Amino acid sequence: MRLSKRLLTIAGKVLQGSNIIDVGTDHGYVPIYLYETKVINKAIAADVSYGSCEKARQNIIEHSLENYILVVESDGLKGIDTKGFDTIVISGMGGRLICGILDDGIEKLKNIEYLVLQPQTEIASVRKKLHSIGYKIIDEDILLDDGKYYNIIVGKKGKEVYDKDIDYLFGKRLLDRKDAVLKEFLEFEVLKLRGIIGRIKERG
Ligand SMILES: C[S@@+](CC[C@H](N)C(=O)[O-])C[C@H]1O[C@@H](n2cnc3c(N)ncnc32)[C@H](O)[C@@H]1O
Repeated sequence: MRLSKRLLTIAGKVLQGSNIIDVGTDHGYVPIYLYETKVINKAIAADVSYGSCEKARQNIIEHSLENYILVVESDGLKGIDTKGFDTIVISGMGGRLICGILDDGIEKLKNIEYLVLQPQTEIASVRKKLHSIGYKIIDEDILLDDGKYYNIIVGKKGKEVYDKDIDYLFGKRLLDRKDAVLKEFLEFEVLKLRGIIGRIKERG
């Protein structure tokens, strides 16, 4: 199983010996990869879409992993029993949807020690959500894959609050380590904004 740079980085955040729930699994690649590389013991591959569940089921069968990865059709965590699992992965969705899934499933997070999140949008809201539901941000990455920037955020149960808004906006861990890809992303955004300003000026 070969993963994209984005999915490989997400998978790389899951600790050895974990039991994971991949919410919005679609193809099931992350749990399949993590089982095949002996990182996890078992997984639930969950998705709200019947078609995605079928896709994941097919891929799991192709890899003979039916005994280790259970496919569950579920809206967020609603149809999932999280007992016996310690890590939830939610990737490739909008930040608002991720926050909604966490809010709606709050009762099911009691035994979940780690959250590995990769929001496509509204990343600051996801950082704030993690803090408000009792998770510290212990790790964060930004990466460029196939011409797009992605943020991957790892939460671990615990208390933490950032004093400054800028830390929620761009990621305290990325700022503190002067992350080269964050700098590149910001420079790219500045160029885009300059282009827009230029076009506004041209309008007279
Ligand atoms: C763009 S795919 C991302 C797939 C994979 N996680 C990844 O990162 O490549 C988003 C998936 O989330 C699923 N999804 C959207 N809303 C959901 C929800 N409320 N609960 C579970 N899955 C959901 C979609 O059906 C789709 O399969």
